Amino acid sequence: MHLQLWQSSLLPLALLNAPLLVSAEPIPVLQQHQKHDLMLSPRARPNAPDGYAPAPVPCPKDKPKLRVAGAVSDRETAWLAKRRKETVAPMTEFLTRANIPGFDAGAYIKKVADGVKDLPNIAIAVSGGGYRALLNGGGFVAAADSRTSGATDKGGIGGLLQSSTYLAGLSGGGWLVSSIYANNFTSVEELRNGKKGSSIWQFDSNIFVGPDLPGILDTPRYWASVAKQVASKKDAGFQTSITDYWGRALSYQLIDAPDGGPSYTFSSIALDEEFSNARTPFPILVADGRAPGTKIISLNSTVYEFNPFEMGSHDPTVFGFAPIEYLASNFSNGVIPSNGKCIRGFDSVSYIFGTSSSLFNAFLLQNISAVEGVPDFLLEAGTGLLEHFDDRDDDIAQYVPNPFLGWNSKTNPNANRIELDLVDGGLDLQNIPLHPLIQPFRNVDVIFAVDSSADTIYSWPNGTALRATYDRSQSAIANGTLFPPVPDEHTFINLGLNSRPTFFGCDSKNFTLKEGQSVPPLVVYIPNAPYSFNSNASTFDPTYADDRRNSIIRNGYEVATQGNGTVDSAWTTCVACAALSRSLERTGTPVPSACTECFTKYCWDGKLDAKASAEYEPKFKLSGVKGANSGAGSVKAAMGTMGGLVIGMIGMMFIL
Ligand SMILES: *[C@@H]1O[C@H](CO)[C@@H](O)[C@H](O)[C@H]1NC(C)=O
Ligand SMILES: *[C@@H]1O[C@H](CO)[C@@H](O)[C@H](O)[C@H]1NC(C)=O
Ligand SMILES: *[C@@H]1O[C@H](CO)[C@@H](O)[C@H](O)[C@H]1NC(C)=O
Ligand SMILES: *[C@@H]1O[C@H](CO)[C@@H](O)[C@H](O)[C@H]1NC(C)=O
Ligand SMILES: *[C@@H]1O[C@H](CO)[C@@H](O)[C@H](O)[C@H]1NC(C)=O
Ligand SMILES: *[C@@H]1O[C@H](CO)[C@@H](O)[C@H](O)[C@H]1NC(C)=O
Ligand SMILES: *[C@@H]1O[C@H](CO)[C@@H](O)[C@H](O)[C@H]1NC(C)=O
Ligand SMILES: *[C@@H]1O[C@H](CO)[C@@H](O)[C@H](O)[C@H]1NC(C)=O
Ligand SMILES: *[C@@H]1O[C@H](CO)[C@@H](O)[C@H](O)[C@H]1NC(C)=O
Repeated sequence: MHLQLWQSSLLPLALLNAPLLVSAEPIPVLQQHQKHDLMLSPRARPNAPDGYAPAPVPCPKDKPKLRVAGAVSDRETAWLAKRRKETVAPMTEFLTRANIPGFDAGAYIKKVADGVKDLPNIAIAVSGGGYRALLNGGGFVAAADSRTSGATDKGGIGGLLQSSTYLAGLSGGGWLVSSIYANNFTSVEELRNGKKGSSIWQFDSNIFVGPDLPGILDTPRYWASVAKQVASKKDAGFQTSITDYWGRALSYQLIDAPDGGPSYTFSSIALDEEFSNARTPFPILVADGRAPGTKIISLNSTVYEFNPFEMGSHDPTVFGFAPIEYLASNFSNGVIPSNGKCIRGFDSVSYIFGTSSSLFNAFLLQNISAVEGVPDFLLEAGTGLLEHFDDRDDDIAQYVPNPFLGWNSKTNPNANRIELDLVDGGLDLQNIPLHPLIQPFRNVDVIFAVDSSADTIYSWPNGTALRATYDRSQSAIANGTLFPPVPDEHTFINLGLNSRPTFFGCDSKNFTLKEGQSVPPLVVYIPNAPYSFNSNASTFDPTYADDRRNSIIRNGYEVATQGNGTVDSAWTTCVACAALSRSLERTGTPVPSACTECFTKYCWDGKLDAKASAEYEPKFKLSGVKGANSGAGSVKAAMGTMGGLVIGMIGMMFIL
């Protein structure tokens, strides 16, 4: 493992911060850009008090405070009561369309809708893997979204998204989820096409160069604008790091607002009309905690989640949550002191998705020197990285003050530190954000786990992400939270479990439950595989021409629908059966024979084939597609330039 190299790869803050002030003068041309954008698309909720800078605000009557984990928050409970009802109509529609022979889905859902507890509780989890994961995951979400054109036609799975209670993302998957919610729960189709012909997801002009708006915003102005935003946070007295820059820069590609929407906060999603009326699923992002003095992220690392209400951890180490809107306030006694200030605006959407994807900090710095017009301070930062990466212990995403200072000091590794360091959620190998969704009190029945990890030599998944979560469930840090058994990577490849959808944990009787334990969700594993396009772009490939972007999204859509049912005409039915499975069991309803056939076909039956697998080089699944078309920089090319540093990268390149 080369993880250590990554953990130490940040630069001295002084180096980053000192020259920033230089670029803080106003930039008139940018203001034109703002007006232009504002007219195009009005959006909800840029509600931070002072742009990107956090700021003190009057405290609400009930002082914000930490809470003990072990249940969902009161706000989530109240929201869920609305959401579960909102899923009834879309679920009825979807399950009816899925046409399970001999099963009256409408009557069944009507019967279980009242008590709610028997209603299927569906979650979708989108893995990390940079832009590849954003696009492939986006293809799945587009297929599941009834608003996508064609998604509710025969062979489609449209409506699954509207039937879902949770939508979790990690790293590149977190960019997808954030982009959807920061744009008023826009559809992937609209993010791709734009509302008025100008798409939001413009990845042909990469993050180093900045948005392609000739005459409006050039590379130096773009970086100056990013730098100015980050400087405002520093000037307000908050620590800044590369995660701030990276998150702000990405926002220009993900958030359809002037200057990448510096005032958009994660907590503001809770105020969004669609979300607050529970007409969307509940978004969650994931990051890992780093224990002080350690650089290795392992399965023992504390997993943190971010949702519109809270940030914190279910793990027995931290076992607590802070109100996300007031991050950076002083919670050192569990509650903001009577003379203390309430801080708002720290939970910038970009800082949250930047935290979840902090692996890309180093990528940003490595590549930046190749681009003209990048300000010197960032170039120096890049050089600083190369010189110092081995002995530096700078942190990747800092949360200062640590919201959990003094909290659970017996078990919380960071309880005594003013600074909490968080890193990319995939660094513990759990590259699919399953952790928040398997917590027993969330009562999730089924997780559609979209895996765009680059595990194999050709950047396809091999089940490592799922297995990491299974392995973790067997260790003390899981505190008894179960996960379906998952085999080794060779079995995945040898039995083709990574080249087609596979269900894990189908048979709930196969779990031996101890006191206080409950059966985990059924996991529908949806691995990235080539249906119509080689969607195995390398993790650090920053540039996607529109046709390539569209082809990867389309391929993700074909994965999700099994080529609109051309690979398996029963696929829509099988998705419906997976969604229903645990609910049927709870209500003692006989399993329709069509579902039994699905389970025979898609459930992993426990067989192993652990002999060393041959090189995994999958062929296109849809007939009529020929030839290699990836056009992506190959892994080898990606490794070419950076010498020693890249050696350290290799380990991670195959994972995320
Ligand atoms: C957000 O989306 C909803 C549903 O499409 C729409 O009714 C509402 O007007 C949108 N809000 C904004 C501010 O664009
Ligand atoms: C599947 O359906 C979508 C949406 O209608 C369409 O764009 C796509 O071409 C179809 N793919 C196949 C393989 O039929
Ligand atoms: C995790 O912690 C346990 C003790 O709580 C220890 O036995 C185990 O080796 C650790 N695992 C890793 C991967 O560090
Ligand atoms: C661990 O699990 C037990 C039993 O489910 C629960 O009562 C306890 O609160 C959990 N403790 C922690 C610290 O997670
Ligand atoms: C935070 O609040 C505690 C009391 O709850 C106080 O002792 C401490 O000095 C405060 N810290 C800061 C940095 O204001
Ligand atoms: C499977 O994935 C892991 C983690 O990405 C990687 O280290 C391993 O080499 C892969 N094995 C195979 C056979 O693809
Ligand atoms: C059933 O449980 C056993 C014991 O945990 C496990 O080894 C086996 O893989 C499980 N079978 C399936 C199909 O999950
Ligand atoms: C993508 O996958 C194909 C088929 O497995 C392989 O031939 C190609 O080299 C891969 N491309 C990259 C960039 O890994
Ligand atoms: C970024 O770095 C990677 C890995 O070193 C390399 O493959 C890629 O071409 C670089 N991109 C740019 C825009 O310089």
